[in-house]
Amino acid sequence: CGIVAYVGHREACPIIIKGLKRLEYRGYDSAGIALMNGELNVYKKKGKVSELEGFIADKNVHGNIGMGHTRWATHGEPNDVNAHPHYSTSGKIAIIHNGIIENYAALKTLLLEKGHTFQSDTDSEVFINLIEDIRTTTNCTLVEAVRLALHEVVGAYAIVVLSKDDPNHMVAARKGSPLVVGVGEGEYFFASDATPIIEYTNDVIYLNDYEIAVVKDGKLDIRTKEDVQQTPYIQRLELALESIEKGGYEHFMLKEIFEQPRSILDSMRGRMIAENNHLMMGGIREYENKFANAQRILIVACGTSWHAGLVAEYLIEDLARIPVEVEYASEFRYRNPIVNENDIVIAISQSGETADTLAAIELAKSKGATIFGICNVVGSSIARATDAGAYTHAGPEIGVASTKAFTAQVTVLTLIAMIIGSKRGTIETSKLHQLIAELEQIPAKVEETLKLDKQIEEISAIYKDATNFLYLGRGYNFPVALEGALKLKEISYIHAEGYPAAEMKHGPIALIDEQMPVVVIATKDSSYEKIVSNVQEVKARKGKVIAVVTEGDTTIPAMADHVIEIPETSEHLMPLLSVVPLQLLSYHIAVMRGCNVDQPRNLAKSVTVE
Ligand code: G6P
Repeated sequence: CGIVAYVGHREACPIIIKGLKRLEYRGYDSAGIALMNGELNVYKKKGKVSELEGFIADKNVHGNIGMGHTRWATHGEPNDVNAHPHYSTSGKIAIIHNGIIENYAALKTLLLEKGHTFQSDTDSEVFINLIEDIRTTTNCTLVEAVRLALHEVVGAYAIVVLSKDDPNHMVAARKGSPLVVGVGEGEYFFASDATPIIEYTNDVIYLNDYEIAVVKDGKLDIRTKEDVQQTPYIQRLELALESIEKGGYEHFMLKEIFEQPRSILDSMRGRMIAENNHLMMGGIREYENKFANAQRILIVACGTSWHAGLVAEYLIEDLARIPVEVEYASEFRYRNPIVNENDIVIAISQSGETADTLAAIELAKSKGATIFGICNVVGSSIARATDAGAYTHAGPEIGVASTKAFTAQVTVLTLIAMIIGSKRGTIETSKLHQLIAELEQIPAKVEETLKLDKQIEEISAIYKDATNFLYLGRGYNFPVALEGALKLKEISYIHAEGYPAAEMKHGPIALIDEQMPVVVIATKDSSYEKIVSNVQEVKARKGKVIAVVTEGDTTIPAMADHVIEIPETSEHLMPLLSVVPLQLLSYHIAVMRGCNVDQPRNLAKSVTVE
């Protein structure tokens, strides 16, 4: 979900609506706004922010204080009632909330007994009634009531609270869900991330867990939940406005796919010194020995980031000869894993806010492991929760389906594998030099690959009505098969499965008939001969083969129905190229099916709930 709030000298409503649109990628099943102008008016609507905009067009939306929310439903279906903001029983206080209150059922029972009433099915309404209850029973200030309520709730939250009886107040707090304060000239902004803020100010404060921020009569005060005043640390953000706008592309996703030559370059910039083939990564330097001596590396991540982790498993095991285990963060945290002080845990996350990944980090930390974070969003919770790390520098990724963040993650992980490998002496110098030279050429080769866009669009037109897709790859291209299938599922709603090509014969082969498109990533590498046999197996069952091959290949093109030729590179780096046609394929199919590419149904960009 996304939060935006404003308090200052301007009209709050346009700032909030614009901010909600910028945050819409975080959740978009309903949206709402609360404005203070003597009254505390709440307007909310199921659907996109544009629906809300239409709904409030004839309403009184004046006021210099307000807050808005765009939702990704956890409690209660997406509808007008469950949308945020939520009023308290008296209608005098309102809240917007991201996260989940785990003990909401117990609190709700208690509050119902005390006569509070509830309109929605949300845990957030329980939160605001709890605040109101504390306030009326103890006769305290609004801030105090919020502070005391934080002691009662278990779970994750980022909240903003407004009260009709306190017209010059805005109270916000966080635990587990991100909240950024923008500091302007006589005005303050609160938001889930900096994107709604940067056109007004670059000065931001990232709130820490259990902190409460209050703007009262134009002054900001930050306290812990124990009521200890904090000295805020104001950071200057360097985020260009263009980087969060579409820049002429029809969709953010397409823009981000096409940005990859640049974003891959940015993710390696300053980390490779070409003249003497030296690699350096600030974040890793301090832990270089620890990495080099690690008995084992654990990788925790979710979704696309987990796929980047799988590529890293191949890279690190091959180049650095350290055993690697790649875990879904959500499984890792709940299965009593064996972790100790000698382990290094690499957490990969585009947003740096994924709740499961954060929880896995906390668990590994409690067992003494060293945590290394790979995040795209600067200042994010995961970046701050880790011992060391490397930013991917891909720039803001707005499209919900991850593209450039994936290739940036893979680039950074490749560099890490090479750095550890050279430290451990497990890569021959000549091989290292060759890989560095190859890596330098990757941005240009991605550029070449992007020229296949038209051809891929034509293939997409042929298969846009398929109901199933199979993606096959071996070795370094196996995680790419998973990623290709995930992209298609996410944005086109076509069922797709990624499989290791050789594993196909143990099950999925039963699905193959003349209706089944099979995307085979069959570039020239150490398992090329094997995958040729797999393509034959598919063709023998009349499957339609869309093959991604290395330029100049003649064997597979002779068998496949469609051939996408990409430049040659080392197999270690191939995922950086071979994923690109699959991103484009899913993009075009989704567009042709009339799907909302940037904001696919039911998904959210950063999942700050378990
Ligand atoms: C969500 C997004 C995915 C993403 C995953 C992990 O499910 O829709 O695109 O891969 O979260 O996100 P992270 O920010 O941790 O990489």
